[in-house]
Amino acid sequence: MKPFNCLFGAFAVLASAVVAVVPVLADEPIVIKFSHVVTDNAPKGKAALKFKELAEKYTNGKVKVEVYPNSTLYKGAVQMLAPSTAKFAPLGVKEYEVLDLPFLFPDQASYDRVMGGEFGRMMFKKLEAKGIRGLAYWDNGFYMLSANRPLVHPDDMHGLKIRISGSKVDEDTMRTLGALPQIMAFSELYQALASGVVDGAQNSASNYTTQKLPEVQKYFNTLYHVHLEYAVIVNKKFWDAVPDDIRTQLEQAIKEATDYNNTISLQENATALTAIRASSKSDVHDPTPQERGEWIKATESVYKSAEKRVGKAIIDEALAATHGD
Ligand code: LMR
Repeated sequence: MKPFNCLFGAFAVLASAVVAVVPVLADEPIVIKFSHVVTDNAPKGKAALKFKELAEKYTNGKVKVEVYPNSTLYKGAVQMLAPSTAKFAPLGVKEYEVLDLPFLFPDQASYDRVMGGEFGRMMFKKLEAKGIRGLAYWDNGFYMLSANRPLVHPDDMHGLKIRISGSKVDEDTMRTLGALPQIMAFSELYQALASGVVDGAQNSASNYTTQKLPEVQKYFNTLYHVHLEYAVIVNKKFWDAVPDDIRTQLEQAIKEATDYNNTISLQENATALTAIRASSKSDVHDPTPQERGEWIKATESVYKSAEKRVGKAIIDEALAATHGD
């Protein structure tokens, strides 16, 4: 298994040398390397390709976007990334883990309102001090839970090794449920489930199907306990060095790619869930409101323990924003 910090190799080299990325000769295109970990046909993969298409079109070829899907490039300089916000702590912005608090977002409408509004913008400002510019949030729906035994009540998690993507708040949630969280690269998840290195996982429906995880997981619970979103980020020095007219065109491309992502991710998560339900190999449990209440109660102490890590003020702000205040 790769050590934890290797997962974030791309962050370490989010290209900072302006001269290396903005060409000296006027007729050379500006190259944007955009690395991500999902397949080309997952919502984020499609949106990255949409951004490429639009960026190259709107800039008339002055910008060339190279998309590297499936964790194929996480070493070397990249200009653009779209990691899930659960992976931001190694950048030194632990506050993003507030978004992993269990049941923070009651529903999709609350997610849309909060991350599309002042709270989402305030979170982006926290990246500036790290030399990073946040351009957009790309939605990928809510997490389901899965394992090879039924997960109906919180106690069903006891003793299960559950793969998580990096957030210490997720880690605490799993421990609170009596599970054994293991941080692991997305690219290693299928094999780890197949070989029994881990017993279960949490992810969005489209991430399950595009990674073929239902081949190695039987029981699903549509618990929707945490929302999965990506922050599309660029190196700030690089972005500021792009000529104004080209940057405006790129911003338009990002805006349209974001609208596209946020539309298709909803549809594709719904389609993926329908496919999982339809498979005779899978068993999908939809929690009753009472069962959901059990999980909420079982994990509520995570809010208190997260205070030390992510800060009480940001937790209070997130709660006020998501639960209306
Ligand atoms: C994961 O590692 O589980 C996800 O963040 C992968 C992704 O980018 O959707």
